Amino acid sequence: MVTQPALIMRVFLASILVLVIPIIRAQVPHWGPCPEPEVQPAFILKQFMGRWFEIAKLPAQFEKGRCIETNFTLTTDNSIRVVSSEILKGEVRKIVGTGVIEDPKNPAKLGITYSYVLPYSPYWILSTDYVNFALVYSCTDVLRLFHVDFAWILGRTRSLPDATVEKARETFATNNIDVTRMIPSRQQGCDKTL
Ligand SMILES: *[C@@H]1O[C@H](CO)[C@@H](O)[C@H](O)[C@H]1NC(C)=O
Repeated sequence: MVTQPALIMRVFLASILVLVIPIIRAQVPHWGPCPEPEVQPAFILKQFMGRWFEIAKLPAQFEKGRCIETNFTLTTDNSIRVVSSEILKGEVRKIVGTGVIEDPKNPAKLGITYSYVLPYSPYWILSTDYVNFALVYSCTDVLRLFHVDFAWILGRTRSLPDATVEKARETFATNNIDVTRMIPSRQQGCDKTL
């Protein structure tokens, strides 16, 4: 029999974990609430579907997998199937998630979760031309005191021209997103992902 105070304590501890785990992963929390970047106007979800390679990411996560890519497909119930893969220690690892458009008025603001027990994390398409590059941003407020964020430059190919990457970094910066710690993702020797 679980007593009421014990239950409340459990829920409390679980909430703390949910708050703290992303902070540890993000390494550097920023003060203040999330920035409010502009997102891709008139976003067309269908054109965004398919295979995207990770070109660069924030925060820097060293000693992680390489050849990271994500394949998005529309499912019949209007949600998005998200399959991400990487090569880690010589093995291809895959995780499957679900994506949704959280607000139909703002179709570029997706939410993605890789687990039934976790809420959707923001996955905002700040800018994309659908055929070459996409800039993705995810930010979570913690009590509006500080925020933790993730940013990705994605490409339809395993590498993008330097000028495209430079322009992408400028776009993030213009939207008050600090990408000075953004690092290139390793996309060499990736034959195994296929
Ligand atoms: C992406 O997912 C779709 C649907 O599951 C599949 O048909 C397609 O082959 C996948 N593409 C890649 C590159 O994995």
